[in-house]
Amino acid sequence: SLSKILIKGGTVVNAHHEEVADVYVEDDIIVAVKPHINVGDDVTVIDAAGKFVMPGGIDPHVHLAMDFMGTQSIDDFFSGQAAALAGGTTMHIDFVLPVDGSLMAGFESYEKKSRNSCMDYGFHMAVTKWDETVSKEMEIMVQEKGINSFKFFLAYKGSFMISDELLLQAFKKCKSLGALAMVHAENGDAVYEGQKRMIELGITGPEGHALSRPPVLEGEATARAIRLAEFVNTPLYVVHVMSIDAMEEVAKARKSGLRVIGETVVSALVLDDSWLWHPDFSIAAKYVMSPPIRASGHNKALQAALSMGVLQLVGTDHCTFNSTQKAFGIDDFRKIPNGVNGIEERMHIVWDTMVESGQISVTDYVRVTSTECARIFNIYPRKGAILAGSDADIIVFNPNSSVEISAKSHHSKSDTNVYEGRRVKGKVEVTIAGGRIVWQNDELKVVPGSGKYIEMPPFGYLFKGMDKAEASYLSSLRAPVKRSKSTT
Ligand code: URP
Ligand code: ZN
Ligand code: ZN
Ligand code: ZN
Repeated sequence: SLSKILIKGGTVVNAHHEEVADVYVEDDIIVAVKPHINVGDDVTVIDAAGKFVMPGGIDPHVHLAMDFMGTQSIDDFFSGQAAALAGGTTMHIDFVLPVDGSLMAGFESYEKKSRNSCMDYGFHMAVTKWDETVSKEMEIMVQEKGINSFKFFLAYKGSFMISDELLLQAFKKCKSLGALAMVHAENGDAVYEGQKRMIELGITGPEGHALSRPPVLEGEATARAIRLAEFVNTPLYVVHVMSIDAMEEVAKARKSGLRVIGETVVSALVLDDSWLWHPDFSIAAKYVMSPPIRASGHNKALQAALSMGVLQLVGTDHCTFNSTQKAFGIDDFRKIPNGVNGIEERMHIVWDTMVESGQISVTDYVRVTSTECARIFNIYPRKGAILAGSDADIIVFNPNSSVEISAKSHHSKSDTNVYEGRRVKGKVEVTIAGGRIVWQNDELKVVPGSGKYIEMPPFGYLFKGMDKAEASYLSSLRAPVKRSKSTT
């Protein structure tokens, strides 16, 4: 076999359970998890005493090498994944963008982009227009290409945005395919008005980005998407919940029994919009993403929502641009490419913000950074668990060490970092991806082409009960009243 690794004496943490145990890996599979495993001399031993041994992170929301706003996000599948591995993330799900509206052409272009991958990855498919061809292509994506989720944009008027009429068609299609509908929830028409309003007022800097698309527009679109998904009776995944307004809509929906999933992102949990008012454009522009980073207070509320299970998982929306790209919008915030970094920082910041602060347990940490994503996208327990038979994607985490985040030391290609100078407690000391030790002693050893495309099958559990619910709804409809045509 290619490799044999024994991780000895650590606290093995899964979302459901933690215990002190050894973990034995052969090739790219976890073979055994139990106390005191004895092995021969040909096995690489990693001492994990006093440390946590956890499933590698899975980032549900990433945009590598994405053609967007007249440029391309600077981290490609190799550099973005290398950064991920250095930060303890061993899989990500990227958003395929259609090419000229074609899902198939989009998929093929992402097959090319991802050829040099050094860690496992999967795809969501963005759907930016709707017609019969797209509808047929969605079938092919689910049945032949390993895609089980589609993202629809209620924002980005004039490019990605689709109307409610088409959204309903798309939701119905998702339902019939057993695929999960995802939404970017901001009211694109209102954002467009808000942007015009700012420009008319002479507010052209990055602060105009936040002012033009306030939380109310995220709340409105989240509520609308949830209600339309309820009307179609299909589950819904709300990506990048950035505000209290959107979070409360997700909370309300879940409380009433709807199958709605809320993803938040690292930037929403820890940053606030004061950065957008920074007098130095190059600093303020780093923080431009959509939906925007909100006023202080939203971040704390989103942390609480994550700790209470109102929001289920944390992604990054990693979509990096360097300062020359951000400078496209020096005279007009509408031209600043939208996106922030996070794929390398997510595991550390979530630990520091949520576990170190006492808001969640170590098992919950595994759940929100890895297991929940694997469950939602139907690849658990191959991913998201330290169990015999799972893929050997593992991190060794030292809670007593710490890390200082900086563009000087990060592995992303970007020349900036929105978490510049932040010191966080805890450190990913070892990352094992696909059975390879790729990060140890602050050294990356990544192999281009070693990452696998992970096919994600259509759903079981998410849709369970949906048909029953629908049947009982239909049977509850009263028989139509028969009225005679004649009048007397
Ligand atoms: O600002 C962002 N989020 N850029 C990436 C595209 C998206 O809407 O997720
Ligand atoms: Zn032992
Ligand atoms: Zn989005
Ligand atoms: Zn995104």
